Amino acid sequence: MKVLAINGSPRKKGNTTTMLEQILAGAAEVGAETRMIDLNALKMRGCQGCLACRENIGECACKDDFQDVLEALKTSDAIAFGTPIYVFNVSGQFKCFLDRCYCLVPDPEGEAGYEAAIPPGRKFTIVTSQGDEDPEAYRHVIEYLRMIFSFLGGTIRVITQAGTEDRDSARNDEALLSKARDAGRWMVT
Ligand SMILES: Cc1cc2nc3c(=O)[nH]c(=O)nc-3n(C[C@H](O)[C@H](O)[C@H](O)COP(=O)(O)O)c2cc1C
Repeated sequence: MKVLAINGSPRKKGNTTTMLEQILAGAAEVGAETRMIDLNALKMRGCQGCLACRENIGECACKDDFQDVLEALKTSDAIAFGTPIYVFNVSGQFKCFLDRCYCLVPDPEGEAGYEAAIPPGRKFTIVTSQGDEDPEAYRHVIEYLRMIFSFLGGTIRVITQAGTEDRDSARNDEALLSKARDAGRWMVT
């Protein structure tokens, strides 16, 4: 069982990273092989709009570090996606990743219909971290991410961290850490 985490925060020891690490630790506890991909460390361009993926669903013609990410997305059994809230939305790194994931969305007019190009029935966790104390403040972002990942055809759990003061906020929040660890175990079982 392979569990993947996609990290959209540039902070190596920040809140999103901490929560994703806990999720992977929970998954590892119950026997999963885990991997974290830091989007910020990759040489990855934004989608070039070539639309070659409309002819070859599941493939991206832009040959950069996203190729490795794509392979990991296809071959993982469960995936956690994490991003800080930047200017009322996901981080730029994470948006770049989402645009590149367009290659995984089948053509609704095509023979494949809406069936995902990667295995359906998997478990996903969406993790967000925000300065605003109101956990509902960025509901639109959660709904946006839910809509996107529902294309992948699985079950989705959400962890929202609100009211962060600094990059250590998650590390000092036992209840949050425990929630993240629990999500990691849930993804494997
Ligand atoms: C460029 C930038 C934009 C931000 N915009 C928002 C925002 O719109 N709303 C908010 O609640 N917090 C905002 N924040 C605060 C971050 O969401 C918050 O610090 C979060 O915990 C960072 O997560 P991280 O430690 O995983 O990077 C912003 C932070 C930065 C650096």
